[in-house]
Amino acid sequence: MPQIKEITVNQLNTAEFIKDKAAEISRIVGSGVAINALSGGVDSSAVTMLGHKALGTRLKTYFIDNGIMRDGEPQWIVSVFKKLGVNVEIVDAQDAFFGALKGVIDPEEKREAITQTFYKKVFGKLVKESGAKYLLQGTILTDVDETVAGIKRQHNVFEQLGIDPQEAFGYKIIEPLVQLRKDGVRKVAEAAGLPASIYKRMPFPGPALAARVVGEATRERIALVRKATSILEQELLPVKAFQYMAILHNDRVTGMRDNKREFGQQIEIRCWDSVDARQARPTQLPFTMLEKLANRLVTEVPGVVSVTYNIASKPPSTMEAI
Ligand code: XMP
Repeated sequence: MPQIKEITVNQLNTAEFIKDKAAEISRIVGSGVAINALSGGVDSSAVTMLGHKALGTRLKTYFIDNGIMRDGEPQWIVSVFKKLGVNVEIVDAQDAFFGALKGVIDPEEKREAITQTFYKKVFGKLVKESGAKYLLQGTILTDVDETVAGIKRQHNVFEQLGIDPQEAFGYKIIEPLVQLRKDGVRKVAEAAGLPASIYKRMPFPGPALAARVVGEATRERIALVRKATSILEQELLPVKAFQYMAILHNDRVTGMRDNKREFGQQIEIRCWDSVDARQARPTQLPFTMLEKLANRLVTEVPGVVSVTYNIASKPPSTMEAI
């Protein structure tokens, strides 16, 4: 396994990086076609811009609507890229993902179910249909580190685990960002012309809202955490934190509403200060802000009777709950 040579944010010359990577993509793909999946995160957005620069319309960009994204996400991302002259096609794959997640409660099994559905089932089909031999992907160095260290299997890391994508899925993967960490990717994204709403965007995990549901990720439970996420993102918008999230717990607790007992749902809020996600501390949010958030969650999200705020650091916590 070749050692990946890190480019730190201080070493990074964005104009040169973009030029070199676009040239490398052109060279590898030749006169063929490549495809990529855009999730709207800063990594896949930056890769889309690099691929677009290198290949123009010979890059087919898809947004896989897996049913576990945030509210309104597919349409918003398509509109952002339309303004940049990049055509993005939405692929409805909700049934495939919920089918694969049915009955799965173990965190790593969930990740594996999502990975297999994404790369083999949904993407395998798109690759066949498009005639592409290459998949452009936004893997970054931190994804590789955490996977190799066995902390969390990032759903986009293969080679470092001894998996040959060509053999496993029938296509080759190109990873132009693998020498960078998040801070470097943000600079590349900005230099590539993406708007601040993308290059400053909080990280969001590949397994999406399924990483924020402890236990089975059913359509109903995802809808609940999606609603909580949308309220949380509105309320914490002014907060300068690395990342914030709402988590739906598996065990219920006794609450009361309208003078009746309600054995309801628990939402945990996490909000992190961090530089590169390797270590993190909970943000000292104003208590009034937490109270307002809790109030909205118990009134606007059906069945929620308990809201907690995580105050443990990473490590030993991790940022996501699963
Ligand atoms: P953890 O939970 O490992 O998260 O402390 C560190 C950072 O990585 C993101 N994360 C993931 N991203 N697939 C991803 O693409 C995953 O399985 C995954 N798990 C965590 C997380 O959101 C945080 O920014």
